[in-house]
Amino acid sequence: MRFLITAGPTREPLDPARYLTNRSSGRMGYALAGAARHDGHDVLLISGPTTLDVPPGVDFIQVETAQQMYDAVRDMLDGVDVAILTAAVADYRPVAYSEQKIKKQGERMVLELERTPDILGSMRSVFGFKGTLIGFAAETQDVESYARGKLERKQCDMVVGNDVSRSDIGFDSRENEVVLVFPDHVEYLEKDTKEHIAMHIIEHATIIRPK
Ligand code: PMT
Repeated sequence: MRFLITAGPTREPLDPARYLTNRSSGRMGYALAGAARHDGHDVLLISGPTTLDVPPGVDFIQVETAQQMYDAVRDMLDGVDVAILTAAVADYRPVAYSEQKIKKQGERMVLELERTPDILGSMRSVFGFKGTLIGFAAETQDVESYARGKLERKQCDMVVGNDVSRSDIGFDSRENEVVLVFPDHVEYLEKDTKEHIAMHIIEHATIIRPK
């Protein structure tokens, strides 16, 4: 099967010296890419900036911004059987990019932000993707119910929910503890390394029938 996996954070530039980003290390997405490749699948990893090595045998596209990730996913969907969107894509970006470094002006400053394109939300409705679609939900409360909301709104086959308020799992940690939310049931995976969690997710990904 052919997998497309997104990973890592995006960076939304403000001026030549600054950008908006988040705490994603890329580990969860890279672990998924490694597990899928280990199981003999063709894998394309589309990643924002990380310090990780690309797993051997995995095709790789490096991006920086949400817009670049959106464009890369749209352009590479041909022939993809399973898409897993793990990246922590910025939801907002600065409205204006300043060519010059922004100078200090007074005690307060207001940044104007605009929405970035929703990659997961575009998969079915804009890109017409027909394969198995797996999203992630990074939540700080009611993880299962928010994940179910995303499953339904974004027409996913599975959403992996994780609690990003904890420092021992989720963002920038070696372990995770997730709930797999399917249309008709849920499955809780105990805290484990991201590599082991990834193996379970890939196993499910290969047997789900896309809607
Ligand atoms: O990278 P690590 O340090 O290993 O951390 C892993 C993780 C916490 C980043 C990962 O497990 C995780 O939760 N990834 C999703 C992060 C996220 O942005 O979640 P969200 O609930 O805001 O977004 C929901 C889904 O929409 C995600 O599949 C996301 O990739 C996607 N999305 C979000 C915004 C956007 N503009 N386009 C998208 O496709």
